[in-house]
Amino acid sequence: MTRLTPQQIIDQDRYPIAAADSPQRREVVDDVRTSLADDGCAVLRGFLSGDGHAALLAEAAEREHLAFYNPVNKANVHLGDPDPTLPADHPRNRFFPRTNGFVRADEWDETSHSKRLYDWAPLKDFLQDCLAKDELHVYEDPVSNMIVNVQRTGEEFNWHFDTNEFTITMLLQSADSGGRFEYVPDLRSPADENDAGVTAVLDGDRTGVRTLDLRPGDLQFFLGRFSLHRVTPNTGDTTRLLLIMSFSERPGSVGSVQRIRSLYGKVTDEHRAASAAPVRADALMD
Ligand SMILES: [Fe+2]
Repeated sequence: MTRLTPQQIIDQDRYPIAAADSPQRREVVDDVRTSLADDGCAVLRGFLSGDGHAALLAEAAEREHLAFYNPVNKANVHLGDPDPTLPADHPRNRFFPRTNGFVRADEWDETSHSKRLYDWAPLKDFLQDCLAKDELHVYEDPVSNMIVNVQRTGEEFNWHFDTNEFTITMLLQSADSGGRFEYVPDLRSPADENDAGVTAVLDGDRTGVRTLDLRPGDLQFFLGRFSLHRVTPNTGDTTRLLLIMSFSERPGSVGSVQRIRSLYGKVTDEHRAASAAPVRADALMD
């Protein structure tokens, strides 16, 4: 395949993101901000060009077999340990199937299309504008900053909250059926875990649940730290492949040793050092 520039990976007609003064870019940014304020989620349809989508999909498909699957295939909403001091029906102590896998960030080299797009400054600047942040940084976690979520037939990702506040995803290949992204906007806040609200969703309450019809080539913004979310079981024959790019408002943040080991099967000295002196903005359980 011809080598594409990061700009060519994106549909420039619809999303001229490197043109800082373009009215079209400003309009897109405004739309994203409106959607994020509404429910913590925004989608840019057809963000990737045809060639760009093909290039990123090829790189993900080549690495699909490298996906790490944690043999402990159940998780709670915090993707953490149970707490015996809490009641058995507390969300912390309720475990559900988490059977999808992840291809780690360090499986892509710096010259890959995926990594070059992730590291492209105009993309970061555009996302920063969309998220209305004073600063944004590439997430410095060497294992998890740019990954592919692999969801084969029968696999699912349980209801959970993310560690990082913002997640940027690009769907590369959808499931033929199932594999749907569902979320409950702003279910918790920095001051309140809202255990009762979380319990209701785990018990099957669909009142606040929204479902997203993502298509290959779409870019999704999601504020996953406060919105509970999951991906329903893949009930088709095609593997769902989702590219996930993480950014942080603060430089130097990485995931916790426990979470990174659980999701990716590998931690580095950076994780061990950060866990000894965590950089955190709130006191949520993770
Ligand atoms: Fe998530």
